[in-house]
Formats: sequence, structure tokens, C-alpha cells
Amino acid sequence: MINTITEHRSIRNFSDKKVDKLILDKIIYAGTRASTTGNMQVYSMIITTGQKLKEQLWEAHFKQNMVKQAPVIVTFCADFNRFNKWCGQRKAIPGYDNFLSFFTAAIDALLVAQNVALASEAFGLGICYLGTTTYMAEKIIEILKLPEYVVPVTTLAIGYPDESPGLTDRLPVEGVIHSETYKDYTPEDIDGIYKEKESLESIKQLLIENKKETLAQVFTDNRYTKKDNIAFSQALLKVLEKQGFMKNE
Ligand SMILES: Cc1cc2nc3c(=O)[nH]c(=O)nc-3n(C[C@H](O)[C@H](O)[C@H](O)COP(=O)(O)O)c2cc1C
Repeated sequence: MINTITEHRSIRNFSDKKVDKLILDKIIYAGTRASTTGNMQVYSMIITTGQKLKEQLWEAHFKQNMVKQAPVIVTFCADFNRFNKWCGQRKAIPGYDNFLSFFTAAIDALLVAQNVALASEAFGLGICYLGTTTYMAEKIIEILKLPEYVVPVTTLAIGYPDESPGLTDRLPVEGVIHSETYKDYTPEDIDGIYKEKESLESIKQLLIENKKETLAQVFTDNRYTKKDNIAFSQALLKVLEKQGFMKNE
């Protein structure tokens, strides 16, 4: 298990080899064994294998190649719809139409997703998460016909790898842990934590490609800009409202 976890790398090129149904069933079952809030299982997995729907999802996911290429696309949703219906049918009045309930269900969905990711990798498959799920939630809701109280929170492209990329860098472990209580970072701490990353040859290349002086600027000015973050925040809040999760009073 430790090897599977520590050997993880995202795969963005997939072969056309199909995923055997028995293997996929085991992977999905492993997803359902994740810890889940109050054992409520307030999530759903939408498994898409058909080319037509995959093409629609591909459009929604900013035309990222792997959505069309990977044989299996799984969309993980925060889902209180099933639980609310169960309550309604069992003389119980649900109070799950608020932001906390969305957040609870989103946590559940993410834990399932990571189990599915690791189980896939344990079977020799490759995976890539798709952050475009939250950016384009409204479109994905329409494509996958998600009802009220269901919101997509992440997606995995799953298939056999057609590439073997190296491990990507990580910050040193000491940079991300705190002993007993949080110890805030001094400017020297930040310099030390990011030193190795910033000295990588691949990062230097990235600066040239992005015409930027620092790696941080690649993030703030090119990859995850304030303007985009505000626009996608507004879109996501609208989706939460529409799907019934913003009755907070
Ligand atoms: C929530 C989430 C969303 C992501 N979205 C994308 C994506 O839309 N496209 C992509 O190519 N990679 C995506 N990734 C993969 C990350 O870029 C990748 O995990 C990171 O660069 C580290 O590389 P590694 O997974 O190979 O270790 C996403 C990862 C996470 C956790």
C-alpha cells in the first residue's frame, strides 16, 4: 500500500485498452469503503464510459485530452438527494439544505475519490484528477442530469497509462508539518521550504515559457488568477444555491 501511495503520479495520456468490468467493480467498491460522515454515504459516483457523453464532458472540462482518451471517467458528487428522500420516506424531516451539509457531502465525495484513485493505481491503472469539475459544475450538472442536492466536486480520468512520467516534486515534509501547535512561517522558513522546488531545472524552463521572474508569479498571474478565482467562486455559489444547499438561515 505504501508503495502504491508513494509511487503516485498523475497520468495524462492513456492507451485505448479497456478496463475490465470486474476490476472496475472492485475499484468502485473500494471507493465505498472510505470513511463517511455518520455512515451516511452522502455522495454519488457517476461512471461515464460512453464516447458521446465523454465528448460532452471533454467540452466542459476545458477540452482536456484525457477526458476523451481515458476509458473511464468518474464524477464524484456531494449528494444529499438520496439521503433526503430516505428521510422523507421514513417520517424524518431532513435539515440538509445548507452550506455545512454541502461541505460534509463534499468531504465524503473526496474521500471516496481518493480511495478510487489508489485502488485504480493498485491495479496498474493511471489516474488524473480534473479540477475543472468545480469551475464548470453548472455544465456538468446539465450533462449528467444531476438533481437538486447533488453537486459535482471532483472527477477522475482512469485508464491504462500510455506514458511513464517521473515523480513530481513535493515540498520537504518539514515544510508542511507543525509539532503540537501551528508555528507560523518566517520569511527565512519560506525561502528554505521553496528553495529546492525553485532550483529545479524544469521550473526554470517553466519561467522562460511563462515569461515570469518567479514561480509564484506563474501561479498568481497565469495559472490561478484572482479574476478567474472570483468568477469561478461566483459560479460555484450560484450552483450551490440552485442545487438547494444555501438555505443558511
Ligand atoms: C483536486 C485536483 C484537481 C486537479 N485538476 C487537474 C486538471 O484539471 N488537469 C490536470 O492535468 N491535472 C490536474 N490535477 C493533477 C495535479 O496537477 C497533480 O496532482 C500535481 O501537479 C502533482 O502531480 P502528481 O499527481 O503527478 O504527483 C489535479 C489534482 C487535484 C488534486
